Amino acid sequence: MQKQSISKIFFIIAALLIWLLKYTSCEITTSSKTNGTILNEKLMNDPGECVGNLTRRNHPSADPLGCYILNSSFHIDTLDGLSNLNFSDPYKDQDGNLMDPGLCIIHCADYLFKFAALTNGNKCRCGNNTGLDAYTKLTDESSINKTCNFKCVGNSSYICGGKDGYTIYDALKSISSYSAPTIDINKKLEIIHNLTKNVRYKGCYKDSPYCNQRLLNGTSEEVSGMTIESCLTYCWQRNFTYMGLEVGSQCFCNNDYNSLTSLSVEDCSSSCEGNNSEICGGPLAVSIYNASNYGSVNNDPVPSGLSKGTIVGLIVGGTVVGIAIFVLIIWHCFVGECGHFSH
Ligand SMILES: *[C@@H]1O[C@H](CO)[C@@H](O)[C@H](O)[C@H]1NC(C)=O
Ligand SMILES: *[C@@H]1O[C@H](CO)[C@@H](O)[C@H](O)[C@H]1NC(C)=O
Ligand SMILES: *[C@@H]1O[C@H](CO)[C@@H](O)[C@H](O)[C@H]1NC(C)=O
Ligand SMILES: *[C@@H]1O[C@H](CO)[C@@H](O)[C@H](O)[C@H]1NC(C)=O
Ligand SMILES: *[C@@H]1O[C@H](CO)[C@@H](O)[C@H](O)[C@H]1NC(C)=O
Ligand SMILES: *[C@@H]1O[C@H](CO)[C@@H](O)[C@H](O)[C@H]1NC(C)=O
Ligand SMILES: *[C@@H]1O[C@H](CO)[C@@H](O)[C@H](O)[C@H]1NC(C)=O
Ligand SMILES: *[C@@H]1O[C@H](CO)[C@@H](O)[C@H](O)[C@H]1NC(C)=O
Ligand SMILES: *[C@@H]1O[C@H](CO)[C@@H](O)[C@H](O)[C@H]1NC(C)=O
Ligand SMILES: *[C@@H]1O[C@H](CO)[C@@H](O)[C@H](O)[C@H]1NC(C)=O
Ligand SMILES: *[C@@H]1O[C@H](CO)[C@@H](O)[C@H](O)[C@H]1NC(C)=O
Ligand SMILES: *[C@@H]1O[C@H](CO)[C@@H](O)[C@H](O)[C@H]1NC(C)=O
Repeated sequence: MQKQSISKIFFIIAALLIWLLKYTSCEITTSSKTNGTILNEKLMNDPGECVGNLTRRNHPSADPLGCYILNSSFHIDTLDGLSNLNFSDPYKDQDGNLMDPGLCIIHCADYLFKFAALTNGNKCRCGNNTGLDAYTKLTDESSINKTCNFKCVGNSSYICGGKDGYTIYDALKSISSYSAPTIDINKKLEIIHNLTKNVRYKGCYKDSPYCNQRLLNGTSEEVSGMTIESCLTYCWQRNFTYMGLEVGSQCFCNNDYNSLTSLSVEDCSSSCEGNNSEICGGPLAVSIYNASNYGSVNNDPVPSGLSKGTIVGLIVGGTVVGIAIFVLIIWHCFVGECGHFSH
């Protein structure tokens, strides 16, 4: 009698688990796949995202502070912030032909600098609160015209300084949709240097500036709550091998990528919008991860909170274990001493 009611309970539990499994996997596949397709078109195929044949980029929503020149009698160069972080200074974009105010401002803001300075049409430098100390602002219109006279190589609508001129922006205020991470710079550098310890991390790679030529072009999404875990989950659920994060909020998936376009680690500078303690690529720079088996083998050193992926993983994992126990009980009853099923 007792054995009978135990089997009944197991039947009910199993039915519940099977229903749960069906329900959850169904929900995941249909709803987010539909959204994935919509967002995919936005990031990769929407003509509105293309300007000429270039992918649209961030533009400053404020004017530059002015045109500046270095005061050679000042004792130090105060726009050397990146070299203070042991990064290349001045910062150049990966192709040498993409530099524009948006790229420079985001790069400087990513590293919590106050000022972004463009010079020579293609170079970007960053400075902290004292950044303007060694520079003199030009006020005379004709000297401004003669000194800050180079168009930006990445967008000729803007001026990027000149041979000796610096077009300087307030890096923390000039792009309204982009703000500096809320994290200490030393912690951020530690996070960047720790990336290589993550077995899924494949490196920082250049993305194509051209429309419909993204490095990872399988599918994509852009959400403000982006984290490493949410992108891994997004691509793993769609059976892609790799995922890539870009400029804090964009997630791309594909089964391969061109590993020849590797960048230095500081080019992937953006903190994830959903978790500032993680790095999510940079402007036209992609942090690539191996998304294989992410949900099924979710115990490797990928940083994780109780993300959606983990929760789904727990539900599916728990269900599989539950079913396994159930099958074992049935098997035990058929083959073992629990005879009443065969009567
Ligand atoms: C899909 O998009 C719709 C409309 O934008 C939204 O209401 C829904 O919550 C999204 N679903 C998921 C799973 O993100
Ligand atoms: C896009 O424009 C650039 C610069 O004009 C050119 O070099 C490149 O071939 C173009 N790419 C495509 C796919 O049209
Ligand atoms: C270049 O700048 C102009 C002016 O802000 C902008 O309208 C255009 O979209 C930019 N081009 C690209 C490729 O982002
Ligand atoms: C240049 O720097 C020197 C030394 O700090 C300072 O005395 C001088 O006023 C500065 N000149 C300008 C134009 O800012
Ligand atoms: C700010 O920049 C100056 C010159 O680049 C540097 O000497 C100073 O240490 C920096 N201050 C901070 C707080 O990083
Ligand atoms: C930069 O590199 C030097 C020499 O390798 C080192 O002493 C210093 O601590 C480094 N600074 C940072 C901020 O990593
Ligand atoms: C400076 O350049 C602007 C824009 O090209 C022009 O309108 C203005 O007349 C120039 N001023 C002088 C003094 O050359
Ligand atoms: C970086 O890695 C070290 C050693 O694994 C660890 O102690 C430290 O907490 C990590 N730092 C961050 C910011 O994750
Ligand atoms: C993705 O890029 C590769 C290589 O450039 C290309 O062969 C493939 O057709 C692209 N796929 C899509 C869906 O655009
Ligand atoms: C992923 O692959 C599995 C096993 O091949 C398949 O059952 C599932 O439908 C695939 N999911 C998607 C979203 O393509
Ligand atoms: C990706 O991860 C899977 C499972 O963790 C592993 O089997 C595979 O070798 C990895 N691939 C690469 C290219 O690292
Ligand atoms: C943010 O990421 C860090 C590092 O991966 C992790 O330790 C922390 O729990 C995450 N925070 C949240 C709120 O998920």
